[in-house]
Amino acid sequence: MMEEFTKFDDAEKRTTDSLIEEIESLEDFFGPSEEDLESLEDEIVSLENEVESLEPIESELGKILYIPKSCLDAGQIIKILRRMLRDMNPKYIDIAERTAYCSVKLFDYLKLHGKLEVKIDRNKLILLSVLFSIGCYKDMSSLVMEEDSASKVPNMFLYSYLYLKNLTPLKDVAEALLLYNYNYGDALSLNSPYIEYASLIFTCMRICIQIRKTKYVFDENSLDNDFIAKCKKAYNPMYVDQFIEANQGNAITSKLESNRYYFLLDDYCDSLTFNYDETFMLLKMMIYTIDFVSTSTVTHILSTSFHSTEICQIEHLSDEETDEVFTAAVLHDIGKMAIDVKILEGAGKLTDEEMNQMRSHVERGEKIFRGITTDKIADIASRHHETLNGTGYPKGLAADDLTFQDRILTIADILSALTDPRTYKPSFPKEKTLSIMQSMVDEKKLDPKIFEDVKNSYDQIVAHTETRRPMLTTNLGQVIIGFISLQECKSVPALFRAIRQGNRF
Ligand SMILES: [Fe+2]
Ligand SMILES: [Fe+2]
Repeated sequence: MMEEFTKFDDAEKRTTDSLIEEIESLEDFFGPSEEDLESLEDEIVSLENEVESLEPIESELGKILYIPKSCLDAGQIIKILRRMLRDMNPKYIDIAERTAYCSVKLFDYLKLHGKLEVKIDRNKLILLSVLFSIGCYKDMSSLVMEEDSASKVPNMFLYSYLYLKNLTPLKDVAEALLLYNYNYGDALSLNSPYIEYASLIFTCMRICIQIRKTKYVFDENSLDNDFIAKCKKAYNPMYVDQFIEANQGNAITSKLESNRYYFLLDDYCDSLTFNYDETFMLLKMMIYTIDFVSTSTVTHILSTSFHSTEICQIEHLSDEETDEVFTAAVLHDIGKMAIDVKILEGAGKLTDEEMNQMRSHVERGEKIFRGITTDKIADIASRHHETLNGTGYPKGLAADDLTFQDRILTIADILSALTDPRTYKPSFPKEKTLSIMQSMVDEKKLDPKIFEDVKNSYDQIVAHTETRRPMLTTNLGQVIIGFISLQECKSVPALFRAIRQGNRF
């Protein structure tokens, strides 16, 4: 039913430099061939098996191994994730951050004045509004089976929905994203308990796009009646009126013009409260966002994190020190998200220029996490390519500057790089791995004592990493399966029916 999408017509979308226009332009594609679809089906079956086989191992973990803890809380994780996405492409996270800031301001105003008629959880509102555009970062070309039509939820929002539902504590609330651009009156008939999240967030998103035209003024004198009417039809009509009231003197929108909203949103992130399991879920989600760019980098981060944890145990570091190294290991290569994937996964030898770009991942990463984590964790994470003889990068630090924890992460990183398969090399066997590392010790690059201990416990380290790996595994397989199944739905009601019946998406 094409009438379902009446508020913001195609002509307007084309003339607006907006997120929506960008999203739609990304949806021009050719679907995969028959063979691709068959191999995709095989992949789904193996992913499903993988998901099932993981659960028993996970429950055994606590009995046999030290379980590293993340030294990051939910607010720190979301702030790091925001910066990672901004480093990759600021466009989509920028509109989400502006929307999130306005959504929280509006929510607080409604709450303060007793005008909030429905239950909206502030925590979940912050998380959902900051992350609603995350699906825009996914390259859909290998997943999409047929061209989109105007009566469907855009694939980017469908992916955001599945990603947030399966990988974050937004299991239920995420479905609000499916009501994007769907008339409020029609949406009510779908009986989604989360319609008000959608209405509040998307009203604010529309305002954020609109006020670029009015130079960040949004008051009674500058109102575009046509815009207001469209907002009131698309979403709960009270939100746009209340926003105008809350924005008196442009109190909210002036912060968008001055970019102060960015730091105020940091404060909102700091106020996030999730329990330990939910926070760990967010940590995993942050790591798996790198999968949008490079699966092998995610695999590498997981091995490095657990190799370093095991080496810390062998070296008798305290639990606190071990957790610091684990957290640094999780963060050490996040600067790679902005590196050209051809360089990241290229099979050939890199040119000098490409090598420089590759090496820039350390400083890019440090810019992302420095100031959010403790300085100690930021130091460990940003020194993983430094060597004892001063020939490393980016700073060319030498032995005196490098702590025991720094040295452990460097060795764990190299061990992971050698033992994991990459596009440009196979997984190296034990003898070859140790002989390469030995030559680095001989060149006075790596710490000889830690290397000696790694050599003596090599099998234990590798085995323990494999046992721990499921700890950081996510439901990414379900996201892909869900996306392939649901993106064939021709309308929003059909999508809701499929979700309610299928239960698993
Ligand atoms: Fe690195
Ligand atoms: Fe690395």
